[in-house]
Formats: sequence, structure tokens, C-alpha cells
Amino acid sequence: MTKPVSRILVVEDDPLVLRELVKGLNAAARSLDNPLGIVFGGVATAREALAAIEADGDLQAVLADDKLYSLPGSRKRNGRKKLQMSALELVQRITRLRPELNVYILIAQEKEDDVVDALFTEAVDGYFYREEGDYRGIYRILNAQIQEKARTPFTDQLKNYVWMAKDQWHTPGHSSGESLRGSPWVNDFYEFMGEHVFDADLSVSVPMLDSLMEPRGVIAEAQQMAAKAFGARRTFFATNGTSTANKVIFQTLLAPGEKLLLDRNCHKSVHHGVVLSGAHPVYLDSALNRKYGLYGPVPKKILLNEIRKHPDAQALILTSCTYDGLRYDLAPIVQAAHAKGMKVIVDEAWYGFARFHPEFRPTALESGADYATQSTHKVLSAFSQASMIHVNDPAFNEHLFRENFNMHTSTSPQYGLIASLDVARKQAVMEGYKLLKRTLELALEIRKLINSTRAFRVLDLEDLLPEETKKDGIRLDPTKVTIDISGCGYTVEELQRELFDRFNIQVEKSTFNTLTLLLTIGTTRSKVSRLYDALMRLAREGRPARRLVRTPEIPAFTRLRFLPRDAYYCGGELVPVLDDKERVNRGLSHRVCADGIVPYPPGIPVLVPGQVITPRIAEYLAGLLRSQKRTELHGVVFEGYQPCVRVLRPAEEKSLKRIG
Ligand SMILES: Cc1ncc(COP(=O)(O)O)c(C=O)c1O
Repeated sequence: MTKPVSRILVVEDDPLVLRELVKGLNAAARSLDNPLGIVFGGVATAREALAAIEADGDLQAVLADDKLYSLPGSRKRNGRKKLQMSALELVQRITRLRPELNVYILIAQEKEDDVVDALFTEAVDGYFYREEGDYRGIYRILNAQIQEKARTPFTDQLKNYVWMAKDQWHTPGHSSGESLRGSPWVNDFYEFMGEHVFDADLSVSVPMLDSLMEPRGVIAEAQQMAAKAFGARRTFFATNGTSTANKVIFQTLLAPGEKLLLDRNCHKSVHHGVVLSGAHPVYLDSALNRKYGLYGPVPKKILLNEIRKHPDAQALILTSCTYDGLRYDLAPIVQAAHAKGMKVIVDEAWYGFARFHPEFRPTALESGADYATQSTHKVLSAFSQASMIHVNDPAFNEHLFRENFNMHTSTSPQYGLIASLDVARKQAVMEGYKLLKRTLELALEIRKLINSTRAFRVLDLEDLLPEETKKDGIRLDPTKVTIDISGCGYTVEELQRELFDRFNIQVEKSTFNTLTLLLTIGTTRSKVSRLYDALMRLAREGRPARRLVRTPEIPAFTRLRFLPRDAYYCGGELVPVLDDKERVNRGLSHRVCADGIVPYPPGIPVLVPGQVITPRIAEYLAGLLRSQKRTELHGVVFEGYQPCVRVLRPAEEKSLKRIG
């Protein structure tokens, strides 16, 4: 196992004092227990300190003098010392760059009160008197605090329990894999998965592993550590993905009939959350990039207008960043929503790493959002389905939240998932900056390499943004790489097949004209080379370029006649989309849909429960069903070969309260 290196930077303007400090602290580190590989290095200026903090991903802490004066060579003409940077400014700049670093201040005894007062609201982890020269004492404290940050309370306890090898008289039925291990039929599964997968698959019957439903022990501790790491007041581990996290928040914030502002482009869990909570959705139209058939963010003007028009809305939810990596300039939007008393939820399913590198910040919470949901599993090292819910809502109703959380959470959560969240947090804090720095370098490199093939072109922010959002301060997460494939001569299906069969490459997603690659902290340089090699070979085949495929444009949202929940829970009836002659069935128009109908791609509902089906929408659905294109139509039911949509019966319509 590779051992960690933990560097600590000492910032001190007096070269003699600096030398003594670094020497003394390193001597202490050598002579005392040092499991984290702590080594001290020094710089004399704030500028050098900030450069080192940016460059050195192994840095874990900074120990800075409370007042950094100019060095002898750059003193004022009268020989007086000039202040380089106050401790306050230095701490603020360090926190802006890397909030996960521990920061300590060296003070002179007589100035203690001033310094501590000035830094009261900043994230300072401790103070030391310079004059004391207690290097071993300083080392012990720094070592202990870095070890504390690197702890994984739940995972450690899980490992302890497994090594205790208790006899199991409880669930799960495989009982540490015993039911599979000796079986001639299924022991291959045991061998394939590995013994610890089964050993660590435990249940609520083990009190020392705490309870996800009512955490008071190691799960509570792990969640508190995650909250600190991600900049939240509270953090909750969700073992059913962000799909469930979104629903839990909706059911906490929205009573039936209360308004929610949302984008039609939100993930389907958001639409399901609307049904479950009984909310009254107000849809904000996301802008369409017609050239590539990509739905982008909601234009800021529309957002601000709708917030103004619906001051009675309880909440606003936005997706940032989107699947394609577009992220909102959130702060002004959050401010406008808060001014009307709305809660802001940001679906950060694709952005759980953002806190750990300044390139990706500010995060939703840093922009003032009340709730952020993150699929830790999508972009950090957690197992699939492991997500986090971060809460900064000052009026957080914990009891209600807990009730809803428990309503959606299995009473037998997978303990491996919880452990993986604990570990993903530790990794993000201890080496997230370093790994993201490398990921960013790879993202830059891969863009250049792909563009150099000439047949493939990476879309940059300008290409991706729909016209009406170009002045909205939207930025691109460079780890999502969307490639225009029209120049390579293959259709998207053919290209994906070639990449998979010939080159062993599976990409994240596609549209008719694009492929999207996802770079994560697990992306390696070898993978980059193999991808480049594959694309280069395909490009050299010299196939003639294709025209960009025109994606059928989803009709604008029409009108909600009933609350989605009311419509969804009606039995309804199935009505065919096409008649006997494959023409659009006129009987479908003006009926009210009971389900969400979602063409995929692009995955945006053309109809939601409670929405009136217009002739234009019926025509659009019929067009998709008749076309040869590879569009799935989620929500359409096939009765034999007959595609149908579930709509409300006239009597059901009469029995429901209309909202529009
Ligand atoms: C924007 C968005 N939100 C939520 C989800 C659901 O996340 P999970 O897979 O963690 O349930 C997804 C999944 O793709 C998503 O794209």
C-alpha cells in the first residue's frame, strides 16, 4: 500500500525564524509517530505561499505568521517594514483557493486579542505562540487534526466489526457469504465479488454500526464530517441516489398544491417528485441549442421574470451543472428567489466534486442555495446509488425532513454504500484538489487531441450555449466533453458500435450529432491515449462528413389543467396515438395526459400528468413514432403494436379540481 505524504507549509517573513521553525518541526515529525508522512516546508512571502498552495496537491495545512512583513530587500526607503498581507487576507485567500486545508496562525503573545478577533469569522483551526518554540507540541496538534480529517468513522467501525468475526444470527440471509461459499452452483459469484463484499453486507441488527434512519453514532459522525467538507450545515447520506434525494426534499418543502418553479429539462426524479409531493409545477422553458439538439439552461431573464411573477412559489429547483456541463451563475438567481421567500434547491448530481477545486467553484451552497443534492457516485469514488443531500436552509425542518427521508429509505440500506460515501468524502478532502487538478489537465489535453483529428470537434462553451443564454454568465465544466461527430462520417449508433467493438470504449451519452465523455478523478492518461488512438484511426478512414441531424423540436409547454398528482392517480384510459391509417388520432387532442411522456433523447417530457394534449403535441408524438429515428418514447404504452397514451376519462376530469 502506498503511504501518504502530507506537506505542511510554514509562512514566515523572518528567514532565521523560518529556518528554525521548519527545522524544529521536521525534527519533531521524525522523532514522533508520523503515520501520515508529515513534512514541513517554508516560504517567506504570501505570494509564494499562495503559489505553493495552488501548485502542491499534497499540502494539508498552512502555518502562517500573523503579520507578514516585506523582506529586507524590498523594505521602504526609510528601512521600515511594509506589510505584505494581513493574516486575515491570507486566510481568506487560502480558503477561497482550498477550503479543505487546515490553517493555523503563529502569533506574538502581546497581539493575541487583536489577531484572534480579526479572524473570528474565518476558518482558522488554531493559534500558536511563536515565542514558545514548542515544536513537538505544534507537531502533535497538527498531526492529530490532520488525522482527524482523514478519519472515516463509519468505514473504520465497519472494518472493526468485520474483523471481530461475530457469529451472525441476523440478516442478510447469505450470512457473510456462507450460503454461497460452499455451493457448487453459486460460489463463482462469491469468488467474483470477493469475501469482504459479503462480510461487510450487514444489517441494522448491529448497533455499533448505527442506523441510517436515526443516526446517533458513527453514521452521524460521518455525516457531520461530510457537512464540514462540503460546506453545509447538515449532510445526509442517501443510498437510493439523487433520484430519491430530490423526492425527499420536495416532500419536505412542498405541501399539495404549493408552487414549485422548475425547468422541464430537470431529471425525471424531479418530475416524479412533483407527482409525489402534489406540488403545482410552474415550468420554465430551457433554451434549445438548435444546431446540436441540446437543451441548455433556462435563460436568466426568464428565470428572474418567473420568480417575480410567482412570489407565492415555495421553491425553485435548477440543475447545475447540466449533463453537458453547463453551470448557472447561481448567486443572483438565488438572491432573487430568496427575496421572494423561495427555497432554492440545486440538483448537483453531476457536480459533487466542485468544492475541491477553485476552477469549479462557487458551488450551489457557496452561491446561497438552501439544498444541494449530489450523486457522489457519479463523479467521486462512491458506489452507484450513493448520494449526499446537503442542507443550508436556515429554517430547516429536521423532523419533517427525517420523516420524508425515512419514507424513501430502505430499512436495510447497503452498508457498503454508506462506507463508500465516508471514503469518498475523505478522499475529496485529502487529495481531491490534486486529483481534480490532474483531471483538468487531462480534460484540456483530450480536447486538443480530439480537435487535432479534424473529423471530431469538441464543443466549447460558445458552441454549446443557446443564443439567448450567451450573456447569462454560464460556465462550462471542462470535465464533460461533448464532441460533434458529424465530420467523421459515421452515424452516432455506428460510431458507438465501432468504439465499443473495435476499441473497447464505452462513452457516457450521445445525441444524434454528439457524443459526451465524462472525465472523473478516475480517468487515466492511458485511457486518454487509447481514446485518441481510436478517434484518430476512425478519422483517417476519411469518410465523407454528414449533415447535422435536425432533432425534432419539442413543442412548447401548453397548459396544466390538473395537478400532476391528481391526474397521475386517475385510472384513465389508453388512447391510441395513430389511427388505422397511421395518421394522428384526432381523438387524442384536447384530452388530459395522465403520465409523463418523455422522448429520449433528449429526455425532456413533452407531456406531464395533468397537461392538455394539443393537436400540435399529438402531431409531434405521431411524427416521432412514424420516423425511423432511434427515439425511445418513455410513457407510451403499446397495446399489441398500437402505441397509446394514458389519458383521463371525462368523468375523472369532472371529479378533479381544475388549476388552469
Ligand atoms: C440531473 C440529474 N439529477 C438526478 C439524477 C439521478 O441521480 P441518481 O442516479 O444518483 O439517482 C440524474 C441521473 O442521471 C441526473 O442527471
